[in-house]
Amino acid sequence: MIAKVFLALTSCAPWLKRAAWRWWYQRLAGNYRGQDWKFMNYGYEPELKSTLTLSAEDESDRLFIQLYAKALEGVDTHGKTLLEVGSGRGGGASFVARYLAPQAVTGMDYSANAVQLSERLHKAPNLVYRCGSAEEIPFGDGIFDIVYNVESSHCYGDTAKFFSEAHRVLKPAGFFCWVDFRSPKLMEEEHQRMRNAGFEMASDEEITPCVVRALDLIHGRKMEVISQKVPGFLRNSFAQFAGVQGSEIYELLKKRELVYHATRCRKRS
Ligand SMILES: C[S@@+](CC[C@H](N)C(=O)[O-])C[C@H]1O[C@@H](n2cnc3c(N)ncnc32)[C@H](O)[C@@H]1O
Repeated sequence: MIAKVFLALTSCAPWLKRAAWRWWYQRLAGNYRGQDWKFMNYGYEPELKSTLTLSAEDESDRLFIQLYAKALEGVDTHGKTLLEVGSGRGGGASFVARYLAPQAVTGMDYSANAVQLSERLHKAPNLVYRCGSAEEIPFGDGIFDIVYNVESSHCYGDTAKFFSEAHRVLKPAGFFCWVDFRSPKLMEEEHQRMRNAGFEMASDEEITPCVVRALDLIHGRKMEVISQKVPGFLRNSFAQFAGVQGSEIYELLKKRELVYHATRCRKRS
């Protein structure tokens, strides 16, 4: 039942999707405020061992960080201004700010609790967090070099609006880097919506096996945390949300009835 609710939330009426996900993420960031939980994505583990060097304190988040590194792979971030849409608990924007030498990173999320939590958990001179909706980005036209978006857009009521907002806030020739999952048919539709927003496709890669590999590697740790920290009546919801082995989302990714893609687009110059 819980699994069906989470899956239904990826494809229900736009207003319900927005409201339900906002309620869920507000609750999560309001109730679970620990330092030890900085990411909310499924992770990425490449086929060959990653060469990404991380500090000891970031090592335990490697799988989640690797998804960010994949999203931005091949895009020059040095000295650039970046906007993350759907920055969650802030760990991804903090990684980008500290490791990829940008001039400035703004992490944006529509959950005010998540933004507040991110400000408390992560500090860097080139990093700020702001509250705002992906479908109405609260920034002017043409001000970012790169907009990136990690496993967040499946929550949005209107992705066409989001892609056109991302396009609007980018400078000419700016990059839009996107990673998320959809059914194969919806994935094609999302790519068409990106083109309709005015983007040129720079690259697109299906990364489902690398995401499933990460889910396998992290399964034990997630189950341990869920059993220690989550009250009994909520454990099944958390297990489904976290995509543990046997959850509906895990099984659909494994069968590739849901596919996970890393897509990079460019605004025309
Ligand atoms: C699965 S979490 C991923 C968070 C983060 N990117 C990460 O990888 O850890 C999805 C995030 O998207 C945010 N979100 C959902 N809908 C949004 C919207 N319309 N505008 C801005 N943020 C949104 C949620 O509040 C949540 O923090």
